Amino acid sequence: MTASIIDGKAFAANLKEKVAQKVHILKTEHGLTPGLAVVLVGEDPASQVYVRNKNKSTVAAGMNSFEYLMNDDVSEEELIKKVEELNADPAVHGILVQLPLPKHINEAAVIETIAPQKDVDGFHVINSGLLATGGKGMVPCTPLGCIMMLKDRLGSLSGLDAVVVGRSNIVGKPMAQLLLNESCTVTIAHSRTRNLPEVVGRADIVVAAVGVPELVKGAWIKEGAVVIDVGINRIEKEDGKTKLVGDVEFDKAAKRASAITPVPGGVGPMTIAVLLQNTVTAACRQMGIDEPV
Ligand code: GUN
Repeated sequence: MTASIIDGKAFAANLKEKVAQKVHILKTEHGLTPGLAVVLVGEDPASQVYVRNKNKSTVAAGMNSFEYLMNDDVSEEELIKKVEELNADPAVHGILVQLPLPKHINEAAVIETIAPQKDVDGFHVINSGLLATGGKGMVPCTPLGCIMMLKDRLGSLSGLDAVVVGRSNIVGKPMAQLLLNESCTVTIAHSRTRNLPEVVGRADIVVAAVGVPELVKGAWIKEGAVVIDVGINRIEKEDGKTKLVGDVEFDKAAKRASAITPVPGGVGPMTIAVLLQNTVTAACRQMGIDEPV
């Protein structure tokens, strides 16, 4: 089998367009302009790129974008004070503190300061608890984007065997929870999993989110499985130049899967599109407005 390629770029563009239409309705019919605040601590180049892209996409969707850049020697207290200000600001409906934070700052303490209803990353324990118990919270962007692409490809996921490789709080755990909520039979594999090839080989759906370049071998993939590759790893080629690869051995996996996301251009573009969608959802809930469909 040769896999069809799941075009995350096109999918994300479509979702962004839908978000822009919703924003237009909220502005014209309700006088509401959703606002997203992004806080970046330090000068990590990759984080700077993400934050710039978030800012551009937020504005392009017609929303207000607020950006706060703080030095990497900012104290935890100062950062928490900034988050508290944003919690209290009625123009801000979504708050995102870019991770990772410098080592002297307790990430969990900062995340738990964000008002759960403004936590558009879905990282607050209230939101992970709501996801685990079937409540209506904010759902982490990357896993939600993966579910959207899977449902678009497969329709119902009910009864399918899903394997998530990776158990991070940001992707692996919420991904597994979302798949469970879709009635998949879910296995979470990780660095201590015994016989990973066999575990992956059982799956109708493979989601790779371990951050290890091409860890998941093409030969492990069951014929006809759908493969979602969340990894973005920069590796050095033999000629000394660098390239981006995922957590899956793409070329070989594409010969066995029925559908697969490429890297780049797969899951990556979806994260920001879902962030914008989450900001609209958060704004509507905070203002007691039904979200436009
Ligand atoms: N750093 C890399 N990805 C993300 C993300 O989705 N949210 C936050 N807050 N930080 C990140």
